[in-house]
Amino acid sequence: MAVSIAIDGPAGAGKSTIAKLLAAKMNYIYVDTGAMYRAMAVYFTQNHVNPDDEREINAAVSNVDITIEYMDGVQQVILNGDNVTGLLRTEETGKMASKTSKYAAVRSKLVDLQRKLAKTTDVIMDGRDIGTTVLPDAFVKIYLTASTQARAKRRFDELTQKGEQCNLEEIAADIESRDYADMHREISPLKQAEDAILVDTSDMNIEEVVAKLTQIIEEKK
Ligand code: C5P
Repeated sequence: MAVSIAIDGPAGAGKSTIAKLLAAKMNYIYVDTGAMYRAMAVYFTQNHVNPDDEREINAAVSNVDITIEYMDGVQQVILNGDNVTGLLRTEETGKMASKTSKYAAVRSKLVDLQRKLAKTTDVIMDGRDIGTTVLPDAFVKIYLTASTQARAKRRFDELTQKGEQCNLEEIAADIESRDYADMHREISPLKQAEDAILVDTSDMNIEEVVAKLTQIIEEKK
C-alpha cells in the first residue's frame, strides 16, 4: 500500500521547501496542493470569473480539467491541456486562489485528484487540509508553523533577493489575512489534525527542520 506523509500549515511556514527536500531524501513524490488551487485561479482570472459569485465559480469549475505530471521529478500542473506551472507563483494568482479555495466545487474537484495521486504512489503532500480531510489516514501528519513575523521576514528576504521591491508590514498583513481566510472558511478550514505533530520553525533553519521531520518519521516507522 502507498504511504503518505501530510504536511499542513499556514502560508509561508516553509512547507513546500521542506516537503521537496524530504521527498527527494526519502524517494517519495512531492505533491504541492497549493499549486492546484493556483491553477484553478489562473483559469478564473483568464476567463474573467468573479471570485465573489459562487454560481459563476461553479459553472467555471465544470469546464476545468487539472492533471499532474512530473518532469525530472518536478510537479507540473496541466490546465485544460496547457502546462501552467510557470504562471502559478504570482501575487495575483495567490490572491485569486486564496479567495476561491473556500468553494465546495473547487475543493471537491481538487481533493478527488489529490486522493487519486496518493492511492498509487508514496507521497509527501502539503497544503491546508491534507491531514484533516484529504488523507485522514496518512502515516505521519505534521503541522508546520512559524510566527507571522518570522514568515513575513522569510518572504521579504526571498522577494528582495529576487530584486523585487516590497514592504515587510504589507507582507505581514497579507499573510495574516490569508491565514484568517484559511482558518475561518466553512469547508475544511486550516487547523492542526488531532494526530498531527506540531513543529514551530520560527527559530529553526531549513536543515534543522528537515532533520526534525526526518526524526519524527523515523520514530514512527
Ligand atoms: O500554499 P499556496 O500559497 O500555494 O496555496 C494557495 C492557496 O490555496 C492558499 O491561500 C489556500 O487558500 C489554498 N489552499 C487550500 N488548501 C490546500 C492548499 C492550498 O485551501 N490544501
